[in-house]
Amino acid sequence: MAKIIGYKRPKDTRKTLARLSGYLARHSIALGAVALLVLISTGASILGTYLLKPVINRYILPKDYAGLLWIVLAMGAMYLVGVLATFGYTRIMARVSQQVIAEIRRDLFVRTQALPLRFFDAHTHGELMSRFTNDVETLNDAMNSSFAMILQSFIMLAGTIAMILVLSVRLSLIVIVFLVLMTVFVKWTGKRSRRYFQQQQVALAGINGFVEEMISGQKVEKVFNHEDADFKAFLVRNETLRKASTKALANSMMTIPTVVSLSYFNYAVSACIGGLFVLAGLMDIGGLSAYLVYVRQSAMPMNRFTQQVNVLLAALSGAERIFEMMDEKPEIDEGDVTLRPIEEEENGVFVESAGYTGRFAWKVPLTDAGAGSASFQWIPLQGNVRFHDVTFGYVPSQIVLRNIDLWASSGEKLAFVGSTGAGKTTIISLLNRFYEPDAGSITYDGIDIKRIRKDDLRRSLSMVIQDTHMFTGTIADNIRYGRLDATDEEVRNAAKLANADSFIKRLPSGYDTMLYSDGGNLSQGQRQLLAIARAAVSRPPVLAMDEATSSVDTRTERLIETGMDRLMEDRTVFVIAHRLSTVRNSDVIFVLEHGAIIERGTHDELLTARGRYYQLYTGTAELS
Ligand SMILES: Nc1ncnc2c1ncn2[C@@H]1O[C@H](COP(=O)(O)OP(=O)(O)O)[C@@H](O)[C@H]1O
Ligand SMILES: [Mg+2]
Repeated sequence: MAKIIGYKRPKDTRKTLARLSGYLARHSIALGAVALLVLISTGASILGTYLLKPVINRYILPKDYAGLLWIVLAMGAMYLVGVLATFGYTRIMARVSQQVIAEIRRDLFVRTQALPLRFFDAHTHGELMSRFTNDVETLNDAMNSSFAMILQSFIMLAGTIAMILVLSVRLSLIVIVFLVLMTVFVKWTGKRSRRYFQQQQVALAGINGFVEEMISGQKVEKVFNHEDADFKAFLVRNETLRKASTKALANSMMTIPTVVSLSYFNYAVSACIGGLFVLAGLMDIGGLSAYLVYVRQSAMPMNRFTQQVNVLLAALSGAERIFEMMDEKPEIDEGDVTLRPIEEEENGVFVESAGYTGRFAWKVPLTDAGAGSASFQWIPLQGNVRFHDVTFGYVPSQIVLRNIDLWASSGEKLAFVGSTGAGKTTIISLLNRFYEPDAGSITYDGIDIKRIRKDDLRRSLSMVIQDTHMFTGTIADNIRYGRLDATDEEVRNAAKLANADSFIKRLPSGYDTMLYSDGGNLSQGQRQLLAIARAAVSRPPVLAMDEATSSVDTRTERLIETGMDRLMEDRTVFVIAHRLSTVRNSDVIFVLEHGAIIERGTHDELLTARGRYYQLYTGTAELS
């Protein structure tokens, strides 16, 4: 194969193109049809032009008008076929491109869902959103037009060069020189464009991220009169984007006029020299006419190509960013232990049940199962949780939890108290496998939670997390988020248990009241009650509540507590609470300080010990 010297594509462009081709390959039949139709349409136009030569030489110059009519009709028919083919491939291409874009969007969504929390800790929402908006959009633009257009340009260029060679080899040399010049120029600007477009996309993502953050934090911005400072910070980003866009645009905009000028020059030179050829008898008039039309046309594929190259480059940098995000390491989940509904037979043997039985067991595959024996073991779901010497840090340099050992059996209520930042929330996040411990292990009913499939682990735990979130939808939808098949009755009971029922009933549309933008139309305490109801509806054996009632008045908190106690009999409960009154009746209370458990025991034991808990309780020390 011929190798073009000095022609080197950036490595990642090739990779991105390969990834894109992967998506296109699924539509190879449709794309094949597009290619065929493009060939027909372009071929018709090239041949139609060639017919100018006989039209002039054989019919117009000899004044054969009857023959002229026929050949003009023939040309018309040919162009008509071309138009129909164009119509056909445009429609097919629209369908294919939208399908591909939908597939990419779907994959991006799935991959985003699978990303570990660590990833979200390190990226702004706006930055991630811009993958779905700008990047997918630029790719969309390119897919709609580029594939067919680039193919067409290539066929057109190849056809045109072939035809001018047929018409006059000598004259063609001029055109070829110009085409080479244009190609070199287009390549040169294309390379720079690519860099500028990439810079532009990055700047755009930056500004989007900033605006997103400003909008979601606007209350805080107002409270602290931060408008001016934020505006200044915005201006910096705006300026970066302006510069990057100006460069990208200026560079891409100068390409086409330059190519157009070159092509006009080419046309003029060809016309003059062609005229001399005709006078010298080296060429006939019909041939020159057709030839000059080809010369004019030769700039068109070049222009289209340049135009599309810019769209394509923007799209490629977009695609690169999309694929980069898709390639981010997803949450690790090599768990092979699953949670299944079970029935117990008379002989005490568990069997898997098809439907919901209210009882669950872990299905643990046995690695060294002997021949003939069942290759898995059933462990009833009980809610025994153990931390074995767990150490963890969000970043390697900073340890957040040190050597945590704890033991929770089903039916027990464990409480964590300690100053803000002591690591209480982190304990719950590890149990949920939002993050993985750096050392030590966590077991659930004796099984290392690393072995449990994440979905099943999380299904077996119910969490009221500290920064809860309400989704756009009705109140009932938001409660049912805890278990999608919960009946209206169950939703209502959960709400009653969480003491949310009374305020919900007072709302104009009751359970059908719509919530928008994280439940902004509710009070903080009401949102917490809904979060508790959501956890209550899911009925798992382990419940964790992270400062779940911090914004609720003490009387309501008491009521919730008694309701929950009823619900959580023989279930394991982790409570993190600010008010020590809420943890008094816990089976064991852990006092955390700087990521270590410094005291543990029941309320009475801890009071007798006269340590940190005693100080907190008697008010000689405060929870900060
Ligand atoms: N996502 C995170 N990334 C990095 N550090 C974190 C993250 N979440 C919490 N931390 C740090 O971990 C420590 C413990 O936090 P946390 O468990 O939330 O405390 P608590 O719930 O006891 O108030 C704090 O010092 C906090 O700065
Ligand atoms: Mg916390």
